[in-house]
Amino acid sequence: MLRAEEIKPADGKLGVLLVGLGAVSTTFVAGVEAIKKGISEPIGSVSQMATIRLGKRTENRSPLIKDFVPLAKLEDLEFLAWDIFSSDAYEAALKAGVLEKELLDKIEPELRGLKPRKAVFSSDYVKKLHGTHVKQGANKLELAQQLIDEIQQFKAEHGINRLVMAWAASTEVYLEYNPIHDSLESFETGLLENHPSISPSMIYAYAALKLGIPFLNGAPNLNLEIPALRKLAEEMRVPVGGKDFKTGQTLMKTIVAPGFKARMLGVNGWFSTNILGNRDGEVLDDPESFKTKEVSKLSVLETILEQEKYPQLYKDLYHKVRINYYPPRGDNKESWDNIDIFGWLGYPMQIKINFLCRDSILAAPVLLDLILFIDLAQRCGMHGVQEWLSFFWKSPMTAPGLYPENDLFIQQTKLKNTLRYMMKEDLITHLGLEYYHEM
Ligand SMILES: NC(=O)c1ccc[n+]([C@@H]2O[C@H](COP(=O)([O-])OP(=O)(O)OC[C@H]3O[C@@H](n4cnc5c(N)ncnc54)[C@H](O)[C@@H]3O)[C@@H](O)[C@H]2O)c1
Repeated sequence: MLRAEEIKPADGKLGVLLVGLGAVSTTFVAGVEAIKKGISEPIGSVSQMATIRLGKRTENRSPLIKDFVPLAKLEDLEFLAWDIFSSDAYEAALKAGVLEKELLDKIEPELRGLKPRKAVFSSDYVKKLHGTHVKQGANKLELAQQLIDEIQQFKAEHGINRLVMAWAASTEVYLEYNPIHDSLESFETGLLENHPSISPSMIYAYAALKLGIPFLNGAPNLNLEIPALRKLAEEMRVPVGGKDFKTGQTLMKTIVAPGFKARMLGVNGWFSTNILGNRDGEVLDDPESFKTKEVSKLSVLETILEQEKYPQLYKDLYHKVRINYYPPRGDNKESWDNIDIFGWLGYPMQIKINFLCRDSILAAPVLLDLILFIDLAQRCGMHGVQEWLSFFWKSPMTAPGLYPENDLFIQQTKLKNTLRYMMKEDLITHLGLEYYHEM
């Protein structure tokens, strides 16, 4: 990793390639435009609003993260999107129903200017959707090449300096590992032969990595973790991150569960249910797309509570996750958690969490932070899976063979210490040694 003065500056434009122009993407783009116009503050964004403590507490040095590390500025972001529907970002945002029309009208010209390109799509991978705005090609390799050509053209036409691609499209069906995923060679043969184990999200990721562009996987789909794409990321020295934006119920879980473990309280039941009515909910109503999401949502408690280390407290944990499509609720997802915990002498207690959340309002700043931080990582010469960005993921990718860190507070420490390390500042251990030295 390059440090401090060797980090390449964030000069020029940063091209943001959005796969999917639905609720999350339009809320993100509209938010960036509204913030640029001074209509709103970047609430929820760690890169824009959080400070970072440097040195000893007595030094009183706590700059904003965006003033501490060289991040791209919001004014320098330039967007390109793909979707299976041709609606521009204004129409798509109205359809998503997250933001009010009154707000969208203030940024209508900017949103109208973002018209999605035809998507690489097949309803074999998202059963509930049937798009019309879809690329045609003789095989999957040709479709990847069409994406590559479009990206290069966008870069040249807009004078773009660097690029980041993010998957904010629908959750694909659950795909198992297949031997064609093993090497780049077998993967490329698979592209040529239209192998069914290569999904659209893998094709987008392949196109990005081939061009040396960082890829972020905002959904739980299988793509970056297949060996072929891992190797391609390493070969091209590209940083990548995934998967599935951490919002809503899982965010709450990773805030609450570390607290139980810190206090050595037992948990023997955690029942989580959700109702949501947006297109994401409709897609997840299909059992195959739900399975992809379920796996991503279930894994967080296992790694936080560490059943094998604390069998008396967590070995009997029964964890159930349900997602129900309920159209009247729109994007305003509602989640209920019933948590059965026990304390001293095994006495049981219950906690109920009813989170009336706005999914895309939580996801948009996460997408912004991931784009800015992964671009920073690339300018620092970092490549492969960026575990220091686990903070933002529901199901963080790791180096092969390692378990993910899901505890939000450990993730936050890792994020901030990585930034300190990049800038040659001391890492903060919270040991308070300065106090003992003074004594
Ligand atoms: N909203 C959240 O808080 C949240 C949190 C974590 C993850 N996610 C994931 O992010 C993704 C986007 O969520 P959303 O709420 O914006 O969903 P959405 O349904 O509103 O938007 C997804 C868009 O992707 C498009 N699409 C589908 N397949 C495509 C393809 N192959 N190429 C291009 N476009 C394609 C759809 O037409 C749709 O417009 C979903 O996979 C969701 O599971 C969302």
